[in-house]
Amino acid sequence: RQKQRDTLPLSGKKVVVTAGGTVERIDPVRYITNDSSGKMGFAIAKAAHALGADVTLLAANTHLPMPAGVRVVHLESAQEMYEAALAEWSDTDILVKAAAVADYRPKEVSDRKIKKSGDTMTLELVKNIDILESLGKQKTKQLLIGFAAETNDLEKYAMDKLQRKNCDLLVANDVTREGAGFGTDTNLVNIYDKAGLVESLPLLAKDELGMRIMEIAAGRLPGVIQ
Ligand code: CTP
Ligand code: CA
Repeated sequence: RQKQRDTLPLSGKKVVVTAGGTVERIDPVRYITNDSSGKMGFAIAKAAHALGADVTLLAANTHLPMPAGVRVVHLESAQEMYEAALAEWSDTDILVKAAAVADYRPKEVSDRKIKKSGDTMTLELVKNIDILESLGKQKTKQLLIGFAAETNDLEKYAMDKLQRKNCDLLVANDVTREGAGFGTDTNLVNIYDKAGLVESLPLLAKDELGMRIMEIAAGRLPGVIQ
């Protein structure tokens, strides 16, 4: 087995995948999160492992079976995801940012359960760090792959995110399309690079799409022969 893994397209490469939706605490029993299931990220991690890579999956609020052969780190918040990604960064070859990161978190996190009082309550939120943008500024050899979930003007927003966050590839899905987006087993995406559209893929199972994304990524790593 090990011998065979040495000759695969991503043998000797380190791949980090973030998956799921971050959890931003309000108090010990309450939090803010989103509908991300983690399926897309898990599919990418499985594909990277199948292609021979050494894979670390940074998973936030996922309830999926552990993929065989992949190191899984469970975490909650955007801040924890950023720190975990940074800890892996220097020797990472490909980082895939499939997670749905909360854009904002509660300004104060109460260490006690908040008691009800008045008829209304206001929760003040502050902006989270943009993990992808921050990693994009710290790129040395890494191939950085971002995601974008949009409801309109897909290409415009996707290209804007790709440039702003200094990504090498960006996987964009229109979440209003049937079979695309959060929670589904399929996805419908366009893949872009700095020059524009790379591939417009048909509706695919997330597992198949994970493999397609990793094959494209492998083909763009220096020294990898497809
Ligand atoms: N992302 C991130 N850190 C954040 C927000 C987003 O790393 N704080 C990453 C996501 O993991 C994804 C990409 O940025 O790979 C795009 O996320 P998206 O929510 O579509 O973009 P935003 O820049 O947050 O813009 P908006 O939500 O306003 O569309
Ligand atoms: Ca966002």
